[in-house]
Amino acid sequence: MKVALIGCGSIGTVVADAMNENKDVQLKYVYDIDVKKAVEFAKKFHTEYKDFDEILKENLDLIIEAASQDAVRTLIPKTLRAKKNVMIMSTGALTDEKLFKEIKELAEKNNLKVYLPSGAIVGLDGIKSAGNKIDRVMIKTTKHPKSLEGAPFFEKHHVDLSEIKKPTIIYEGTAEEAVKLFPSNVNVAASLSLAGIGPKRTKVQIIADPNITSNIHEIIAEGKFGVLKTRVENVPSPDNPKTSYLAALSAIATLKKISEPIQVGT
Ligand SMILES: NC(=O)c1ccc[n+]([C@@H]2O[C@H](COP(=O)([O-])OP(=O)(O)OC[C@H]3O[C@@H](n4cnc5c(N)ncnc54)[C@H](O)[C@@H]3O)[C@@H](O)[C@H]2O)c1
Repeated sequence: MKVALIGCGSIGTVVADAMNENKDVQLKYVYDIDVKKAVEFAKKFHTEYKDFDEILKENLDLIIEAASQDAVRTLIPKTLRAKKNVMIMSTGALTDEKLFKEIKELAEKNNLKVYLPSGAIVGLDGIKSAGNKIDRVMIKTTKHPKSLEGAPFFEKHHVDLSEIKKPTIIYEGTAEEAVKLFPSNVNVAASLSLAGIGPKRTKVQIIADPNITSNIHEIIAEGKFGVLKTRVENVPSPDNPKTSYLAALSAIATLKKISEPIQVGT
């Protein structure tokens, strides 16, 4: 399988490392808005940096986005028009109904696949199975205050994150709203909502806890199928505490799922 990668950051590094060790997958090209970073990354992982429009002219099986919601908006529709399958990590962008519809229609028209890995959460198998039998679903995300720094939410809500001494609820709302206010933190809520009952009906709670070192995600869903509860305590990536290591591992697992004949799990 011939692959290109958008985004030479934390997830990109873990994924590129795994691809270098798997002879069935070749990382042919990388692209990043930060050209210097991408050139150094390409050198480190024995691959090539190219301008994105040039990458699209190449014969590739898959393009992996591990960059930002903005990259999804600006680069993914043209990737599908260029007839390439895609994997999207910045799933928050897909809570925008218009963009979601455009991406779905382009994939259908060109007979392509759009893969959304489970990311930093567990339980999407059960959520997908329960489907429209879910009445209520909520994700509770607990992070160290430092991991929430810089989110657009704080432009209007003046919270001194350095003053938080005990677990504190920072935000409660819908997945649709949360991905705009915490774009780097709650892709998990977007993925949950896309697997389940949609961004408007999926509830989100964000808690800042100065006494933890992991990113904790708990899902509670109830409905005609019963009750589902999951909890994961994620190790943050060393160079980007907003991103959980499991998210990068889920991209690698998805690559494996695409290339292997037997698919385990829903
Ligand atoms: N689905 C999930 O569960 C999940 C979990 C963690 C992170 N994420 C998301 O995955 C993405 C990557 O995460 P990360 O930790 O590797 O981030 P990172 O900040 O470490 O790296 C992102 C890289 O992408 C580049 N970039 C940003 N916008 C770009 C654009 N428009 N075009 C090209 N390059 C661009 C940056 O320069 C940077 O090098 C983020 O959007 C993050 O929110 C998703």
